Amino acid sequence: MTAIPMTTYCVLRRGLATRAYQETNAYRRRTLQDRILRVDHAGEFGADRIYAGQMAVLGNTNVGPVIKEMWEQEKEHLQKFEELLPKYRARPSLLLPVWNVAGFVLGAGTALLGKEAAMACTVAVEEVIANHYNNQIRDLMADDPVQNKELLDTIKKFRDDEVHHHDTGLAHDALKAPFYKYLSQTIKAGCIGAVWLAERL
Ligand SMILES: [Fe+2]
Ligand SMILES: [Fe+2]
Repeated sequence: MTAIPMTTYCVLRRGLATRAYQETNAYRRRTLQDRILRVDHAGEFGADRIYAGQMAVLGNTNVGPVIKEMWEQEKEHLQKFEELLPKYRARPSLLLPVWNVAGFVLGAGTALLGKEAAMACTVAVEEVIANHYNNQIRDLMADDPVQNKELLDTIKKFRDDEVHHHDTGLAHDALKAPFYKYLSQTIKAGCIGAVWLAERL
């Protein structure tokens, strides 16, 4: 389903929901799942573009295979959320064109600074995403671990993959990147802002 009809559907659905329905656990769960799927789909889409940008610059270097392996996992993550969005009738982010460009520019831009900076980018992004997934796991568990089992299983698996990517970046000299601390803090702040936006838009 395309973004526009789904957006229209969601707005109508919210508008038509009665106050009584809005106070039910079912409505709260739908709202939680909608927010989680929108931001996670956008995040994995952005991650796919980051690794695409890194591969465009470093694909033929000695870290090419390492980046490619992580990119392949991001593609699997993205594909899973592409399946889950319509299944849960969740609305995709309206900012996907922004995440497309921003992700590629971040990946390619840091890769142009060198493979250490590309790995520093990976470490920063994956740290934010792993924390973000842990927060979602807590929210879904607090809501209902049985009703949210599919999302919990998915997010736990992906969280473990992202932690592995984070550790791979560290193992490939991320800390030797120029201005590591500044670069890392800037990227993390950008990612936290992107998560905040993608949950809402
Ligand atoms: Fe991912
Ligand atoms: Fe990742």
